[in-house]
Amino acid sequence: MNFITVKTYEELSEKTAKLIAAQITGKPDSVLGLATGSSPVGTYDKLTEYFNNGELDFSTVTSVNLDEYAGLDGSHNQSYRYFMNKNLFDRVNIKKENTYVPSGCADDLVEEGKAYDTLIKKLGGIDLQLLGIGLDGHIGFNEPDEFFTAETHPVSLDPSTIKANARFFESEADVPTKAITMGMMSIMQARKIVLIANGQAKKEILEKAFYGPITPLVPASILQLHADVTVIFSEN
Ligand code: GLP
Repeated sequence: MNFITVKTYEELSEKTAKLIAAQITGKPDSVLGLATGSSPVGTYDKLTEYFNNGELDFSTVTSVNLDEYAGLDGSHNQSYRYFMNKNLFDRVNIKKENTYVPSGCADDLVEEGKAYDTLIKKLGGIDLQLLGIGLDGHIGFNEPDEFFTAETHPVSLDPSTIKANARFFESEADVPTKAITMGMMSIMQARKIVLIANGQAKKEILEKAFYGPITPLVPASILQLHADVTVIFSEN
């Protein structure tokens, strides 16, 4: 594991965007695993900047997102589909039909999960997976549990996650209590993983995840078993 500490969020965003840009330049038809949350916003801004400068071409890139809230469709301004369109897809030349986010509105989220895993396999797996980390150690929406779940699957959100994500909604009561998330199989099979976190509040969970025991009680700790993980932490 390569653990990089930088001072500012700006540096974190630039480093991360450069890794993603290098991935796309080296393999223009890359499959990117993408993440939401506040951490990657600066990275998506940088990628947009590189695109606007003519340095980066997304026309043959495919993306698969990690997760989605149950019950929110893409027109809801807190859905992850909406987030991705706004922060990246609508700003660069990626083909919309090559961007995938699991549907939180499917009638059967278990079936949706199976179809999503089949899709990822059909695409040849993920070349580079970008991850954030929740304060409870979740990646995607894989919450602390007694076991790791391999497949894309529906989950009940941890009360601490609902609380943490309430900042994006009008009130805590508006935060969906369920979601669908990629499981550990697709994440761990990604050829390269970049996990980003900023601010002192994330320091303790990063230490637990990357220097503590590997346990489903700290879901991100499974990443210690992956051969190509870069963690970028910014102190501010
Ligand atoms: C959400 C997402 C995660 C993300 C996490 C951390 O719960 N499902 O994928 O990593 O939030 O978010 P933030 O980057 O805002 O701290």
